[in-house]
Amino acid sequence: MGLTTSKEMFKKAYEGGYAVGAFNVNNMEIIQGIMDAAVEANSPVILQVSSGARKYANAIYLRKLVEAAIEDAKAKGKDIDVVLHLDHGDTFELCKDCIDSGFTSVMIDGSKYSFEENVELTKKVVEYAHPRGVVVEAELGKLAGIEDDVNVKEEDAKFTSPDEAVKFVELTGCDSLAIAIGTSHGAYKFKGEPKLRIDILKEITDRLPGYPLVLHGASSVPQEFVEMCNKYGGNIPGAKGVPEELLREAAKYGVCKINIDSDIRLAMTANIRECFTESPEVFDPRTYLGKARTAVKDMVKHKIVNVLGSENKM
Ligand code: G3H
Ligand code: 13P
Ligand code: ZN
Repeated sequence: MGLTTSKEMFKKAYEGGYAVGAFNVNNMEIIQGIMDAAVEANSPVILQVSSGARKYANAIYLRKLVEAAIEDAKAKGKDIDVVLHLDHGDTFELCKDCIDSGFTSVMIDGSKYSFEENVELTKKVVEYAHPRGVVVEAELGKLAGIEDDVNVKEEDAKFTSPDEAVKFVELTGCDSLAIAIGTSHGAYKFKGEPKLRIDILKEITDRLPGYPLVLHGASSVPQEFVEMCNKYGGNIPGAKGVPEELLREAAKYGVCKINIDSDIRLAMTANIRECFTESPEVFDPRTYLGKARTAVKDMVKHKIVNVLGSENKM
């Protein structure tokens, strides 16, 4: 199929009790690492672009790189379903730009607005997206953590209300909903014991049967990468993520899309730091970026096979 929307992908994931990984892409090596993993594991995948990624790489480069990755997979005999998704779109104009330029899915994140304003903005995006064959993810509730340079403090985070979720989906017609149940963006997710409000998730799933939910801030922050970063000159003490078993559990209760960005950053940085320290003679970017790319591939394949459950679902 190649580039597709998440409609069928989520239906299959929901029925199969697994989730599809949504990985943030910022450059060629990240796209290649993720796609190589998806090809090896025969898994659908969502490649998502934030507005920060668009600023960094220029939107057209990322889109063309994704097209190239799909073509490369096809040349290897693997027709992998890929969703090209806008992550955390914050305005109608940004969503429109992505819809017009070939994205198959957009997120409109109105979570910082009032319920009514969020409904109004989301509805406007849905009305533009649907006739053009594009699906829309929205967000209700508020995650803690850093996203696009905005830091939402823990005390300002807000779990998603099941009552509001039902109303919101009905009023907006959005195709999937990101919910807040205790995950957060970035590498510092929990001060004490990691905990997710699976009870809230179950209630939302009970009230919206068959409806695909999305988990943002779902990196596990593998301690091997944290330790590697710190060993080789980094300074990220106490970084902690969502335990993988909690993600597996969430996937059983209607979570069809699991967002991972920080783990990619950590995998790359740990391996580049190690390379610089262990091999100071290296100055060819292909050497250290090649190691970073392999680390992304291995990490993503591990997620697909051992956490998300989307292996061999093509
Ligand atoms: O949720 C945020 C993602 O990790 C994207 O981060 O806005 O720094 O690209 P970014
Ligand atoms: P992490 O920071 O946990 O990787 O979350 C990424 C995310 O939610 C992207 O939208
Ligand atoms: Zn997010």
